[in-house]
Amino acid sequence: MEDEAELTGATARRRPKADILEINGKRLKPATLMMGHGYDPALSEGSLKPPVFLTSTFVFENAAAGKRHFEGVTGKRPGGADGLVYSRFNGPNQEILEDRLSVWEDAEDALSFSSGMSAIMTLLMTFVQPGDVVVHSGPLYAATETLIGRIFGRFGIRWLDFPAGATRGEIEAVIDEAKTMGRVPLIYLESPANPTNALVDVQAVAAARDALFGDDKPPIAIDNTFLGPLWHHPLRHGADLSVYSLTKYAGGHSDLVAGGITGSRDLINAIRMMRNTIGTITDPNTAWMLLRSLETLELRMTRAGENAAKVCEFLREHPKVESVGYLGFLTEGRQADIYRRHCTGAGSTFSLYLKGGEKEAFAFLDSLKIAHLAVSLGGTETLASAPAAMTHLSVPPERKQALGITDNLVRISIGVEDADDLIADFDQALAAV
Ligand SMILES: Cc1ncc(COP(=O)(O)O)c(C=O)c1O
Repeated sequence: MEDEAELTGATARRRPKADILEINGKRLKPATLMMGHGYDPALSEGSLKPPVFLTSTFVFENAAAGKRHFEGVTGKRPGGADGLVYSRFNGPNQEILEDRLSVWEDAEDALSFSSGMSAIMTLLMTFVQPGDVVVHSGPLYAATETLIGRIFGRFGIRWLDFPAGATRGEIEAVIDEAKTMGRVPLIYLESPANPTNALVDVQAVAAARDALFGDDKPPIAIDNTFLGPLWHHPLRHGADLSVYSLTKYAGGHSDLVAGGITGSRDLINAIRMMRNTIGTITDPNTAWMLLRSLETLELRMTRAGENAAKVCEFLREHPKVESVGYLGFLTEGRQADIYRRHCTGAGSTFSLYLKGGEKEAFAFLDSLKIAHLAVSLGGTETLASAPAAMTHLSVPPERKQALGITDNLVRISIGVEDADDLIADFDQALAAV
């Protein structure tokens, strides 16, 4: 081979390099690892950035390698799929993305999905059976509640919930009751909850679960979309799986839809088997866009968080504002205690309650010049919407009241614009109310 290279002047093919995860015994930070972790340019003609691998299938080196792959895919050999097989199972862009997602939560492994909802669907499909009772915190993102209650309900699966701020005793009581109704396959949390921002005490949930189950403990999964992966690391507090709508802060530019799950290798492999079967993996283009997004994740989230703190300070002093539901303002009580134990930042999504009702909320939204009137959150641009009249229009009035989804509520997701410009925009929109 070397002789041939000498004769033709060709350079011998480079071997892939081992990933550098630490220097002088010090582990590299996620912000550093986002630039190269999980990708070796030598495997892609020296291309600094990973190409988008648009292929539906991968060529095996030989028949024995093909057999080995399928032993992994079908579970005949533990450890999951080894190598690339078929694009419904995996692909280079998705695998690099999954390696990098794991880094943020210090997780053993991760999976990427076509949407946050397809991640949640695949998770539930992996663990639940007819007759089971899913225990969950409440409220959940509306589509997740629909999925668990109405869709899985059609297949004989029931649910029981506890309020987001519940104490260990309250959580134990709900789990105990659920156990009398059927097998509890999964404890599913969302913190902060959409749309109330209420926090769940993950440590208390883990303690309650551990006290009430023996060896056959149901996994604790948590939707970490609102504060993850920068400001909330639930795997450190006792959760087993951290679930994401990557559409939000991780994607961060309001230009893609995707989902993710991180956690232990065993649980992730179980979910992978389901994903392999039903094909809920993200596509290579979206995975590539997410790789680009993750390079600036810390910068974007930090800036958005700083902006939100300044904007919220301004809003809470304004005479036309009734109150501001912003995690950074929690000072006392159980929510503040959970916040201090679990979160390292307040995020950039919050609730603004204006004095008045729908008329005032609409006047405010229609006067905004920088912030856009749109649902979703976590993008570079500031978004605002009226949940009572939009995302939660179909929620019954009593439940809306219980969740604080009133007509004067405006949900705001702050982006990375200049904070003073945003304050000027909110100031002039409030003047128009
Ligand atoms: C907390 C939360 N979880 C899950 C989802 C669903 O994610 P996707 O829209 O990517 O399917 C959303 C979407 O708004 C969300 O806010």
